[in-house]
Amino acid sequence: MTERIRDIAHLSTVELYTPKFEESLWFFRDLLAMREVGRTTENGEESAYLHCWDDYETYSIKLTAKSHAGVGRVAWRAQSPEALERMVARIEATGLGEGWVDGEMGRGRTFRYRNPDQHLMEVYFDTEWYAADDTDRPALKNQAAKFPGFGANARRLDHINYLTSDMAGVCDFTENVMGGYTTEFIQLDDGDVGGHWFTFGQKSYDMVYSDDWTGTPGRLHHLAFASDTREDILKAADIFLENGVFIEYGPYKHAIQQGFFLYVWEPGGNRIELANQGSRLILAPDWKPIPWSQGERAKGQAWGMKTIPTFHTHGTPVVEDSDATANPHG
Ligand SMILES: [Fe+2]
Repeated sequence: MTERIRDIAHLSTVELYTPKFEESLWFFRDLLAMREVGRTTENGEESAYLHCWDDYETYSIKLTAKSHAGVGRVAWRAQSPEALERMVARIEATGLGEGWVDGEMGRGRTFRYRNPDQHLMEVYFDTEWYAADDTDRPALKNQAAKFPGFGANARRLDHINYLTSDMAGVCDFTENVMGGYTTEFIQLDDGDVGGHWFTFGQKSYDMVYSDDWTGTPGRLHHLAFASDTREDILKAADIFLENGVFIEYGPYKHAIQQGFFLYVWEPGGNRIELANQGSRLILAPDWKPIPWSQGERAKGQAWGMKTIPTFHTHGTPVVEDSDATANPHG
């Protein structure tokens, strides 16, 4: 057995693009209960930084005004300065590195790169921890900020699910350059892989790649936030309903990874998930990746209604007529 590369600690921050900046800001700040912690303008594009109450670093997502929805920079924190150097050396060897940049919002030197499907990523080690002020200081010092007690109370950023037009390329890169470990995957009848779940620590997954039926590189399937309990997700569904947010799918339970889920589209069009994994962790150092066949996948979720068509076709940026895209795997 080859020893796992463990140079990445966790998914740190995600930049989301939105064509409806104020409405998206309202969604994350007033409905998910994230706190706005900063604003910048770069090349004429306004960005807001938002923090989930239990994320230990200065921010969780960066929301950037753009002409279209989608995903921008996704940042990973390395395990140590030495792990950062090792990872950068592996990236440089692939030719996909874009070089060192100044870290933003409390971060030290940061290395920027793209995966083989053109998703923009960054890795760094030095970081500032979130400093609560008089308005959000927690009662207990082992918590980043006070529990908001309104809206969906998104606890922390949980995982990113990309769409990819190059499943073999991104999986090879994730495994051998980033050090991701496969926990579950979908094995289609034609030999292709339909979806791939990777972990970097002991959560059952941090990053997912799903097959993009349109064949377009660089798109996002969804971004997920962790809730404290499954019941919080039911309450969130009521809050989204009251506020006119489009509820796409759920709340139900996934078969793959067993997460309790709710998918909505934030006003800019990006699919957002509230997810609860219960207490599921991957402790085995020799965990055997779980394959799901096309037939097993076709049965749908663990329970709840069958998977709706847009779950397989909607991604951001939106591709023209993607809802009419046929399944290339039959
Ligand atoms: Fe998810």
